Amino acid sequence: MMKKEKELLVAVASQKGGVGKSVFTVLLASVLHYRKGLRVAVVDCDYPQHSIALMRERDMESVMKNDDLKVSLYRQHERIRKLAYPVIKSDPEKAVEDLRRYMDEKGETFDIVLFDLPGTLRSEGVVYTVAAMDYIFIPIKADNIVMQSSLQFTKALEEELVSRKNCNLKGTWLFWNMVDRRGRKDLYDVWNRVIDKMGLRLLSSHIPNTLRYNREADPVCKGVFRSTLFPPDPHQEKGSGLPELVEEICRTIGLEEPDTDR
Ligand SMILES: Nc1ncnc2c1ncn2[C@@H]1O[C@H](COP(=O)(O)OP(=O)(O)O)[C@@H](O)[C@H]1O
Ligand SMILES: [Mg+2]
Repeated sequence: MMKKEKELLVAVASQKGGVGKSVFTVLLASVLHYRKGLRVAVVDCDYPQHSIALMRERDMESVMKNDDLKVSLYRQHERIRKLAYPVIKSDPEKAVEDLRRYMDEKGETFDIVLFDLPGTLRSEGVVYTVAAMDYIFIPIKADNIVMQSSLQFTKALEEELVSRKNCNLKGTWLFWNMVDRRGRKDLYDVWNRVIDKMGLRLLSSHIPNTLRYNREADPVCKGVFRSTLFPPDPHQEKGSGLPELVEEICRTIGLEEPDTDR
């Protein structure tokens, strides 16, 4: 039984946009909150877009317009007996402060808080937020510019924060996203060797490039994949790499499912 006094703080972070920070923050949050019975909060640090907060608004609108989704939401609530996880709007500098204020105001506690963190380490405020995380996961795609920036970013976090043990951050892990089925294996081999040589850690899960990651609930489609109100539809999860990634992340951060339903 997981009984932690303090919630785990986990960020999906990158200096690069378009690598999957927001998508994986949401998917991870939805699996952990709606399926695994953990108490989750999301802090959307992508100021000023706040794309996850917007996604939540779209998801609510979809439910209003679709009776099937309404019934699903009702049934889910009957089953799990808790509300949707909160999406707290913030920015990379005040993320932890905003979380603490939210928790104080609402008197809520969480098992895990997920941060969508665009990580340009330019200001002290951002470094403070990054250093306050327990674990950071960095989506990468096999593109020279993304890779250069991501490896640099990760190396900096490992050298300046993790290895000095001067803060909360215990480790960073890269993971491959948008892997093309017909992509060049030799290219990935080369990058994997570079990652290894730099002493950085890489998850073994690979996320393929698939349209599911773009699919939200809409008034005509059944079976949601990417949603802030539901876990991904199991039929669509197959072959997405997501279940493997979630399990690997849970193992990595020592997160267990609670014994009893809350
Ligand atoms: N594995 C994937 N396959 C296909 N599309 C993906 C995948 N991962 C992310 N995407 C898409 O790429 C775009 C950028 O992802 P997003 O999570 O918004 O990136 P970020 O938050 O890092 O800017 C989104 O449209 C998302 O749906
Ligand atoms: Mg984003």
